[in-house]
Amino acid sequence: MQSSHFGKDFLWGVATAAAQIEGAANAYGKGPSIWDTFSKRSGKIKKGHQPTEACDFYHRYKEDIALVKTLGFTVFRFSISWSRIFPLGDGAVNKEGVAFYHNVIDECLKLDLIPMVTLYHWDLPEALSKEGGWTAFGINAWFNDYVSFCAKEYGAKVKQWIVINEPFGFTSLGYMLGVHAPGQTGVHNFFEAALHTAIAQADGAKILRGEVKGAVIGTAFSCSEIVPYTQSAPDLLAAKRTDALMNRFFLEPVLGLGFPTANWEVLEKFAISHSTWRYQERMKFDFDFIGIQNYFPLVIRYNAFIPVVQAWEVKAKNRRAPHTAMGWEVNADSFYRIIRQFAAYPQVKNIMVTENGAYFQDHLVDGKINDQARIDYFKAYLAAMLKAKNDGVNITGYLAWTLLDNFEWAEGYQARFGIVYNDFKTQQRTIKQSGYWWQEFLSR
Ligand code: BGC
Repeated sequence: MQSSHFGKDFLWGVATAAAQIEGAANAYGKGPSIWDTFSKRSGKIKKGHQPTEACDFYHRYKEDIALVKTLGFTVFRFSISWSRIFPLGDGAVNKEGVAFYHNVIDECLKLDLIPMVTLYHWDLPEALSKEGGWTAFGINAWFNDYVSFCAKEYGAKVKQWIVINEPFGFTSLGYMLGVHAPGQTGVHNFFEAALHTAIAQADGAKILRGEVKGAVIGTAFSCSEIVPYTQSAPDLLAAKRTDALMNRFFLEPVLGLGFPTANWEVLEKFAISHSTWRYQERMKFDFDFIGIQNYFPLVIRYNAFIPVVQAWEVKAKNRRAPHTAMGWEVNADSFYRIIRQFAAYPQVKNIMVTENGAYFQDHLVDGKINDQARIDYFKAYLAAMLKAKNDGVNITGYLAWTLLDNFEWAEGYQARFGIVYNDFKTQQRTIKQSGYWWQEFLSR
């Protein structure tokens, strides 16, 4: 397999996110984000790590973007930190922050790389979180102001846009389970946040469409094939519900189908109490591409003690299935099947894999970072994607997660997903064997 098998227009890139790489978290006029405050106070991040310095991309962006080029990619995906532009979320603009993203974009263009901008990758301004964040009624107006600003400011140079990164990821982990910022819990908070996020996703896309000539607009969904543990009726139901939440909940409103609430009392109540049908039209948008981000499948079993879903994950290690250092099952066939599941909606015209990658322990051998497991992972997942493409699925790009080892949210700096190693003490970058593998793969 070589990259040319995917066609000459296929986009190959790496994906990153502001809070995970930038650092300079309280410098150059940036306001705090929920990840700055959550990492300080919650005690929920491994080893008490904080994103304050991260990979120091803020100062090293030139060197890092040059690496993207050296490795042979054509797309650099990065996100804008909302509180670097609007320190308080809305109102006064931080000019230094605005200039920083111009510099990043200009550097990409100088090297003939396509800049792909994510507008929201989880780092909400803390000032807005104090007002309720994604659960607040005002969030849609704040978000729209922010999107309009970015579209007007950068739209002449940036054509590839992703509105929101993994709506299910941050609304479930941050507002229902409390393990991510802002650390809120409860199904009520989740529903409030989810409704506002689904609206923001389409509103943001419509603003981009109006402001940016020639924009290619996508949004990025997390997805996982859901496999029932047994064929028993309770396991099948648990799997079906998990699928509705994890794969369909944010996708279907975009496609004009509304939230998938049918035959599930808790969701039906949410739909009624929030009159979600009223927003059906507003949540819809004809995206140029649907971004999918896949890391693992889930095997699901019924469990009466788990609220709402009554479903429980049977972990890969307990099933003796191959898994990464995150405990996530390695299963390229499931990647193929989830691509097919998303592609089966007639409204989905174009799929881009906007994240995929793995954390494995890296080993230093003969002065090289030997990460054969990561290379094997990429090979298998790319082969699965090629199979889907050859079946006729319109897949137009693939972005590896991620360029550098970085601040991996609640896992802190321990979980290394990079194809380039980062020494967080010296900020020295070392290309891993997987990085060299990519370079070779992309050259043919
Ligand atoms: C997120 C990334 C994250 C990656 C690995 C995705 O869900 O978008 O920010 O680092 O998964 O956990």
